Amino acid sequence: MVELGVNIDHVATVRQARKTYEPDPVWAAAASELGGADAITVHLREDRRHIQDRDVRVLRETVSVKLNLEMACAQEIVEIACQVKPHQATLVPERREEVTTEGGLDVTRHRDSVARAVQRLQDAGIFVSLFLDPDPAQIDLAAQLGVEAVELHTGQYALAAERDRLTQLAALAEGGRQIRELGMRLHAGHGLNYHNVQPIAAIEGMRELNIGHAIIARALFAGMEQAVREMKRVIDQATRR
Ligand code: PXP
Repeated sequence: MVELGVNIDHVATVRQARKTYEPDPVWAAAASELGGADAITVHLREDRRHIQDRDVRVLRETVSVKLNLEMACAQEIVEIACQVKPHQATLVPERREEVTTEGGLDVTRHRDSVARAVQRLQDAGIFVSLFLDPDPAQIDLAAQLGVEAVELHTGQYALAAERDRLTQLAALAEGGRQIRELGMRLHAGHGLNYHNVQPIAAIEGMRELNIGHAIIARALFAGMEQAVREMKRVIDQATRR
């Protein structure tokens, strides 16, 4: 089975637009679980533009499926993660001016800071995943750092013109093969929606997909529980073929 991690950051984005108490991502997490989510994913950004420290703490208490915390390698955030102890931490690059995460982590360039964060999180008993582009050198380094999983960045695939899409898909499938052969769990995410998710879900050995924007967009009209249920169905159909 391919697990679905529902990213609920956008719910906090709406709340922060008015700096009020609603809508509460904790409600969104509960509704996602009712719709069949296998994990709840939130990104505690250094600028706190959407998810707040309180959200992560309350979600840790209330979420009954896996809680996946996306985070930069920044020391402050690593300390919070070690206190709150989500089941899984996914290390991502973070730039303040970006609208959303724009690419995979560059482990070759930031090896020391990534290694420090991985060690600290694993010492706290947290399962660590690295968000990477399907680049063989980056994937090799992830294995050398001893992380449990790699989440492949599907943003290029999602944005690709029709004629380039198969090339992007082949690169992701090849990255997936390498990740599995190196003994790590295969995850993927970014830019996935109801129309483009199936070829990614069908990549051999895929274990977890993290999806936010498309689910929240549909939830505005269909409700959170229904939007998650529909995404689960689309993913399950791809893996049963
Ligand atoms: N995976 C990672 C590592 C991300 O940073 C994001 C965006 O927060 C997602 C998955 C979800 O992307 P989207 O909102 O485009 O579905």
